[in-house]
Amino acid sequence: MTKSSQIKKKVPPPKLLRGMKDILPDEQLYWNVIRDQVRSFANDYGFGRIDTPTLEPESLFKRGVGDMTDIVQKEMYSFVDQGGEHIAARPEATASIVRAYIEHGMVSLPQPVKLYYIGSMFRHERPQFGRFRQFYQFGFESLGVDQPVVDAELILLGHRLCRDLQLDVRVQLNSIGDPKSRGVYLEALKSYLKDYKKTLCESCLKRLAKNPLRVLDCKEASCQKVLEGAPQTFDYLADDAKQHFVMLMEHLDELEIAYELNPRLVRGLDYYNRTVFEYWYDDEQFGGNLALGGGGRYDYLSSILGGRPTPAVGLAMGIERLVLLLKEKNTYPFMQYRPDVFIAQLGDQARKKALRLFDDLRTAGIKVRQTFTRDGLGGQLGIADKLGAKFVLILGQKEILDQTVLVRDMENGSQEVVPYEKIVKDIQKLIHKKDA
Ligand code: HAM
Repeated sequence: MTKSSQIKKKVPPPKLLRGMKDILPDEQLYWNVIRDQVRSFANDYGFGRIDTPTLEPESLFKRGVGDMTDIVQKEMYSFVDQGGEHIAARPEATASIVRAYIEHGMVSLPQPVKLYYIGSMFRHERPQFGRFRQFYQFGFESLGVDQPVVDAELILLGHRLCRDLQLDVRVQLNSIGDPKSRGVYLEALKSYLKDYKKTLCESCLKRLAKNPLRVLDCKEASCQKVLEGAPQTFDYLADDAKQHFVMLMEHLDELEIAYELNPRLVRGLDYYNRTVFEYWYDDEQFGGNLALGGGGRYDYLSSILGGRPTPAVGLAMGIERLVLLLKEKNTYPFMQYRPDVFIAQLGDQARKKALRLFDDLRTAGIKVRQTFTRDGLGGQLGIADKLGAKFVLILGQKEILDQTVLVRDMENGSQEVVPYEKIVKDIQKLIHKKDA
């Protein structure tokens, strides 16, 4: 169809893809608060920023996240590009971080290498409350050290970040042991579940055959009932994994971080071993526990991807979910942008001068706002008032002729005439006096 026939035929305007969203300016306030918190926590805890590409080889996630996981099997946005390469839009970032760690030889840096990221991830899931197909995560990853204090540091970081956003979360904690000792546990689990084949849901029957650990976090009521009596991972931990878990709990006790031992917590990605955790928020609108974030150890991921064995632990949180809760609770004390000065103008000549004045004030470091497309003085003063500006500088016909500016103090309504060439210096003094 040609462009002109499209215009004639009134083709409906394009729409967002299902599960995707625009983040409009009003909502950015919440996003900025979260991003600022993430940066400030990264500084305090010593994490350096890393940005990895949105697109990666599909094989990275097949090998890293696991070929049998729902994320890889059902949810990944993958395609073959023009050069015949199998590409995926990243469903998560941990595999990419480990790829980057290996590719840039970070193993030779002092360990742990501590990295954080903020970016969008893609999963073709059924959209619902707090679940999108393109969503943003921030994450913190600490690579190169196996001590439980690192697990504790990360759990603390996520907990405190939520606390600073005034969100009370419940930490869920489990240890799923190491691959070498997991065989015994999986046998026990399979032997327990085989008596309940008639009760398990269809997906769990498939999981039982291919990835039995994943049966543990099935949300179906019938499966949940069966799982009440299932063997628990921490009863099958080898001594070193048990010791690691006990030490982690001791750290959390010392920090007075309450946690709930959750034997069903296994997480949906295959790279985990030992510690796994999530942050849950009881949300009425969601009708239950909303997972704000989660993470765990992935000591074998580097070897799986062909790198040197590198113990590691990390966490990621979903920004949309945090934003939803910040909005729903509406208690976070947001700092609104408040200009010191607002410029109001009347007429074309004044508008020309006003744009220049705006630039001069801003260049001098003054917080200044304007609406050069508005005309009436009343309307402009209303906007200045709404923004909380301390002073309004008025430029009308008279001021242009006299080469002056009318300065109005918005707190007490007093006005004074200032020569145009002195305005920047004078307004700086006036702001200083008010702030003192
Ligand atoms: P995950 O549990 O898959 O872990 O995702 C972490 C968080 O991202 C979730 O708790 C949730 O808040 C958010 N999230 C996940 N899927 C969606 C979605 N479809 N829509 C909105 N938010 C979503 C990971 O991704 C691991 N890489 C975490 C990790 C880091 N493990 C070790 N290091």
